Amino acid sequence: MRKFLVILLAVIISGMILAGIVDEIKKRGYLVVGTEATFPPFEFVDEKTKEIVGFDIDIAREIAKALGVKLKVEDIAFDGLIPSLLTKKIDLIAAAMTITPERAKVVSFSDPYFTAGQVIVVRKDSFMPKAFEELVGKKVAVQLGTTGDLEVSKVEGIEVVRFTRYTEAFLELQNGRVDAVVLDFAPAQAYVKMNPGLVISSGILSQEEYGIAVRKEDKDLLEVVNTVLRNLKKSPYDILVEKWFSK
Ligand code: ARG
Repeated sequence: MRKFLVILLAVIISGMILAGIVDEIKKRGYLVVGTEATFPPFEFVDEKTKEIVGFDIDIAREIAKALGVKLKVEDIAFDGLIPSLLTKKIDLIAAAMTITPERAKVVSFSDPYFTAGQVIVVRKDSFMPKAFEELVGKKVAVQLGTTGDLEVSKVEGIEVVRFTRYTEAFLELQNGRVDAVVLDFAPAQAYVKMNPGLVISSGILSQEEYGIAVRKEDKDLLEVVNTVLRNLKKSPYDILVEKWFSK
């Protein structure tokens, strides 16, 4: 009897260890997505509903749907996202996060789902910098830990001012306390639209691609994410071709 119980316990415990994150999420009933919600149109707080919405959130909702669970969104400082993932506070990161070799050392990225690059935003009445080098001697606001931060930090002589939230960075630009903000093109456009006094002064200065990040060991979840992305990219036409011409 005792032997039987020991074996039973061993089976249960090993089952718990072997069961992947996908099983865990399904049992739990909800997927926890980490993001940083001052990055429209990818993730931002809807003024009316006070809910976090955006392109990434809709993708995350599709992932939750594929898993048959609810979606929970956690708004975390951008530089806290990877630590939160590694300590299992969240299941994945959907935050317009650029796939970089440095980050790929600690997390696994999905297939790329969006092409992006850095631009410079200034006040309309100011200088019109076209390259990072023209920011030497100036105060430049970035979000802490982003590729924008990395790019301007590489150029010697730029005074980099790091913020947790883009909303703060843009407030400082409007107030004249910084000379420029460096960030990804699409959110730059969104902020400029909201602030008529601002303008994008440069072209796109870097080549980047966004990926959804999961823990390295969570290969089962990565597979689900990639399948969802692949399906989202299929047009109704692609689906018809697949239906009538495959095998
Ligand atoms: N693409 C840039 C990066 O990966 C900025 C992303 C910022 N995302 C956000 N949700 N705040 O560093």
